[in-house]
Amino acid sequence: MKVLVTGGAGYVGSTLVPELLAAGHSVRVLDSLLHGGQSLLPVWTHPRFEFVRGDVRDEPMVRQAVAGMEAVVHLAAIVGDPACARQPDTARDVNQVASLALLAAARRAGAARFLFASTCSNYGKMTESDGYVDESSDLRPVSLYAETKVAVERAMLDDGIGVTAMTPLRFATVFGVSPRMRFDLTVNEFTMEMVLREKLVVFGEQFWRPYVHVRDAARAIAAVLQAPEKQVRGQVFNVGATKENYQKQQIVDRIRPIAPNAVVEFVKRTEDPRDYRVSFTRINKTLGFEVSRTLDDGIREVARLVRDGVVGDASHPSYRN
Ligand SMILES: NC(=O)c1ccc[n+]([C@@H]2O[C@H](COP(=O)([O-])OP(=O)(O)OC[C@H]3O[C@@H](n4cnc5c(N)ncnc54)[C@H](O)[C@@H]3O)[C@@H](O)[C@H]2O)c1
Repeated sequence: MKVLVTGGAGYVGSTLVPELLAAGHSVRVLDSLLHGGQSLLPVWTHPRFEFVRGDVRDEPMVRQAVAGMEAVVHLAAIVGDPACARQPDTARDVNQVASLALLAAARRAGAARFLFASTCSNYGKMTESDGYVDESSDLRPVSLYAETKVAVERAMLDDGIGVTAMTPLRFATVFGVSPRMRFDLTVNEFTMEMVLREKLVVFGEQFWRPYVHVRDAARAIAAVLQAPEKQVRGQVFNVGATKENYQKQQIVDRIRPIAPNAVVEFVKRTEDPRDYRVSFTRINKTLGFEVSRTLDDGIREVARLVRDGVVGDASHPSYRN
């Protein structure tokens, strides 16, 4: 397929693009390079790779970028609660307004597939503390970031039987090493702080979240692109594995053996509006998708990366959104 990947220079995108090229697809990336473009160096000279520097809010640019594309994977966004809270107008424009315009442009251009990077944050706080939420559970967005994602999902699912098959993917919190590295994501951050600085402060260690390796996030996108259309049209999929739900305390415990001297301070929080354990049965049953890497794999690879100084100063702001 000819695939447009918006945000292809980002943390998920820069792992996805080589995966799609290896699977035989042609890939055009549209990205404004908010965090730089070095992550695209490994694919820069690939004959089926094309780069367009531009903003998803620029409608003529978006029209050009979707022209001739058979599929759109929409990753570009202001990512995460803190980044969205800091620049709410931009977050709404990029994550919501521009996403809806891109959706319309993809439909007009006759793209067969539209995949949207949504988030398990949409679930907010689970109502039953010993249960799991799944794709049919109520959405309780508690941040502007999640609100914008829910709004786009709703518009996609209202679309009915248009030319373009719409598939929102609700990713677990991603971890692991990618050409664009992020150290503001829980597993990467905890590992980096405990291994390198031997110091970590954890807020609300008892709260649950699901986690998924960045390579598996990319594999899931590739699997959805390749699946028969009737399996994915109008379907929401959580992306991750049910056994990879963890409390923050458990993540610290897993890192502990490789950072025995780290001083970890736990700051008590009795309330966290985002506390959710997620079921990933649907993507497993429908597409046979299984993760290939666990939390422990991610911890080991991130620890080696920072120990060996491969990324220079891992606490540099460019590694945080
Ligand atoms: N990383 C996670 O844990 C996680 C979890 C759930 C969902 N997601 C979703 O996955 C997607 C990718 O996340 P990520 O971690 O790779 O984030 P990232 O910040 O590393 O990448 C986002 C990319 O989008 C680009 N971008 C931002 N605004 C743009 C604009 N106006 N025009 C063009 N490009 C723009 C940036 O330059 C960047 O390359 C996002 O939609 C995010 O909401 C990520």
